[in-house]
Amino acid sequence: MYYGVKLLTLSTVFLLQNYLSSLAYGAAFHNDLWFALGNQSIKENKPRSDVKYIMDTWTLQMNYPLVTVTKNGANGLKATQKRYLIDYNAVDPGTYPSPYNYRWEIPFTYTTSTSPRFDQTDADVKWMRKDSDTIYIDNAVTSSDTWFMANMKQYGYYRVNYDSENWAALVNQLKTDPRVIDPVNRAQIINDAWNLAKSGDLPIETALSTVEYLDMEPEYIVWESAVGELGYVKSMLERTELYGSFSKFMENKVRDPFTRTTLNNTGASHLESYFRATLASQACGYGIDQCVTESRQLFASWLQHPDAPNPIDASLRGTVYCTAIAHGGVEEWDFAYRMFKASNVAGEQSRLMGALACSKETWVLSRYLVYAISPDKIRKQDTTSVISYISNNPIGRALAWDFVRGNWDFLMNEYGGEFFTLGGLVRRVTDDFNTNIDLFQLNNFLEKNPDMGSGTRAFNQAIEKTASNVKWMSENYGKVQAWLRSQGY
Ligand SMILES: *[C@@H]1O[C@H](CO)[C@@H](O)[C@H](O)[C@H]1NC(C)=O
Ligand SMILES: *[C@@H]1O[C@H](CO)[C@@H](O)[C@H](O)[C@H]1NC(C)=O
Repeated sequence: MYYGVKLLTLSTVFLLQNYLSSLAYGAAFHNDLWFALGNQSIKENKPRSDVKYIMDTWTLQMNYPLVTVTKNGANGLKATQKRYLIDYNAVDPGTYPSPYNYRWEIPFTYTTSTSPRFDQTDADVKWMRKDSDTIYIDNAVTSSDTWFMANMKQYGYYRVNYDSENWAALVNQLKTDPRVIDPVNRAQIINDAWNLAKSGDLPIETALSTVEYLDMEPEYIVWESAVGELGYVKSMLERTELYGSFSKFMENKVRDPFTRTTLNNTGASHLESYFRATLASQACGYGIDQCVTESRQLFASWLQHPDAPNPIDASLRGTVYCTAIAHGGVEEWDFAYRMFKASNVAGEQSRLMGALACSKETWVLSRYLVYAISPDKIRKQDTTSVISYISNNPIGRALAWDFVRGNWDFLMNEYGGEFFTLGGLVRRVTDDFNTNIDLFQLNNFLEKNPDMGSGTRAFNQAIEKTASNVKWMSENYGKVQAWLRSQGY
């Protein structure tokens, strides 16, 4: 323990704090640890040793802060903290009063474009204190700086917002030479921009502009962050008229990185495998020819020699199976189903089970739904997974929803006792509902089936989620459309 403490830096203290909160250690355990770290800081002559004083602002109140950074005069910076909420209109304030009035002790770090520095130490930290909203930093920028940015390598647990001029300058840096900015901070720019757009702290056009350079992005962690944010946009637009343009935009972003990595995973490290799998799933998902054609070829050679070792790299199987089934016919489907029945490896079974839901044949999906409640075809513990997978397919979504409603009593009897199964099913099937008709249907179904037992809570959550998706659509659809058009899509 003592030796371990010596190695701790400020950033690990923050990581540790999240780790400890998630494991729900008691306050006494926390205090002992903060004191030990505090005494160690004194020994090492660290700038601050009042670790408990700092950490209490992070463990004894909910949420986390948003720090807004703007220019102050010609050479200064000004950073202001406020409590960050994804939905400022939600009824919450008052329910959980904070002993610190929702202000935090924040380890603020920043850098600027003329000499960007991402590896910073405790000595570089400008502390934002819990007794004031704002700090001013003099002589932080020079007249030749084009941009500034805060929270180097995302060591602190806070979001960052800027004025529109600085956002534009950061976007411009990403487009001209992204490598000037550390990958962790590139991921942060995307992640912060999209979340701030969701909470209404930033226009969605700014969030969209942070991914314009993605075709030049070489790092996995950045793609992971971007794919997460864009996945939501995709799920909102997938059944709308706008999807054609959005899909073209995504194809253009994914094509070059995918062409560089291909589906050949020979000799790849773990990290490279993850990256390749992410790019492949995007490339095939948005229909890039090279990905689709190669996937179908790989699958066909497996189909022709089912007894030979599977020629498809394990990390790419989910995508390859799904693509071959989506672009194939019933022969591919039946083969994959046979391999599913024959497999006794859990990972392979669930990959195949998911891929079988990728078919674009309505009747094949309907048959799969019937299989889902036939225990000799699909084991009972997999029923809700299969229905959920089918609902993730834009063609299968309406089928799955009708199926759930049509077989409600049966599903209640068979699965109603286990809250997580039926509740999870309702949440997943309705996850991307985003129209007023969807909302009407959900409310209507709840009215007609007041006695849902374990399903009631999930249904109410589904109604809330749908209402928030409807709101997203009414606020953003037109803006995304105009933005895509302005980009030539
Ligand atoms: C050092 O440890 C003692 C005893 O646990 C504690 O009372 C004191 O507050 C600690 N000092 C710091 C700076 O945390
Ligand atoms: C895949 O990559 C390996 C190593 O880079 C190479 O030796 C092999 O020929 C490639 N396979 C194909 C089918 O291109």
